[in-house]
Amino acid sequence: MFGKKKATPQIDKDQLELIENAQRRIRQKKGLYIHFVIFLLGAVFLILANTVLGIGKDITFFGKEWFLYAILFWSFLFVYHVFNVFITHKFMGKVWEKQQLEKLVAKQQVRIDALKTNMIKEEKHVAKSDVFNTQQTQKEILNSNKQELTIIVAAAENDAIGKGNKLIWHLSDDLKRFKSLTNNHHIIMGRKTFESFPKPLPNRTHVVITRQPDYVAPEGVVIVNSLTDAIEASKSDAQPYIIGGGEIYKQALAFANKIELTRVHEDFEADTFFPKLDLSVWKETANTFHTKDDKHDYEFSFLTYERK
Ligand SMILES: NC(=O)c1ccc[n+]([C@@H]2O[C@H](COP(=O)([O-])OP(=O)(O)OC[C@H]3O[C@@H](n4cnc5c(N)ncnc54)[C@H](OP(=O)(O)O)[C@@H]3O)[C@@H](O)[C@H]2O)c1
Repeated sequence: MFGKKKATPQIDKDQLELIENAQRRIRQKKGLYIHFVIFLLGAVFLILANTVLGIGKDITFFGKEWFLYAILFWSFLFVYHVFNVFITHKFMGKVWEKQQLEKLVAKQQVRIDALKTNMIKEEKHVAKSDVFNTQQTQKEILNSNKQELTIIVAAAENDAIGKGNKLIWHLSDDLKRFKSLTNNHHIIMGRKTFESFPKPLPNRTHVVITRQPDYVAPEGVVIVNSLTDAIEASKSDAQPYIIGGGEIYKQALAFANKIELTRVHEDFEADTFFPKLDLSVWKETANTFHTKDDKHDYEFSFLTYERK
């Protein structure tokens, strides 16, 4: 059961190749020898066919019998065979094949590398043109004299604007201002802000941005899949308002001409923030302070910023 394992002779790859080579050479030489024998027999047969059996007795070319030409032609074939076995084989043998294969593989590799480089260049080009297109759209919207795209937001001193998809404070006069400014206008918002309302606000066209292709909303609400589409959908309005939330404000700052900011003079814990305003881009054009009172728990200011 546990008898000795038979030792199998191990042949490495090079040895195997040498053996195969030798076998191939033997086969080639054998083939040549057989060809020689057939050639001799064939030549004798052709001579006898003509001289003894009288086949094609009357066929001559340039005064010589046809079998002489046939034997001559066959001799050429045989010489060619000899040449192949002993001469061509030397420089078109296995080594030559290997070299040719390596050359071809190297050429293909060069082509593949060139294609890869081209593809990388193309990708960079496409990326550049995407950035270019976005910048163009931004320029077009900013330079359009027809529209005053306005961001409206209430933000704390620490730029907090919301928590748990809700506003953090209740400031009655701020809501009144929001209502009066946005009344009869398009209001552009992110899907989350839209869902934070109990129902759509009256007298306003709601434009809701979502990446969901099949988002369903009540009748009259316009659903779009990008901020630029939202701006396009509000084209008929001379002053559409971007009303939040955090994600949309971040993207809209590049397109807006005006910001109506209610600055609540407190810091609040929050999960959504308004981006820091770059005062090299925005200049303050109006500022109205509002004190604390029985309807307002915090001091706040109505600030207007316009693009410089
Ligand atoms: N203080 C204020 O003045 C004020 C005003 C408004 C809101 N808020 C507060 O802000 C918070 C909500 O803000 P948020 O940042 O969480 O959400 P949001 O900006 O209201 O909405 C985000 C959603 O908008 C869609 N969206 C964003 N960018 C998009 C794009 N480029 N293309 C297509 N769709 C895009 C996505 O919807 P899908 O996930 O459906 O794809 C995304 O989940 C709440 O707490 C709210 O109370 C505060």
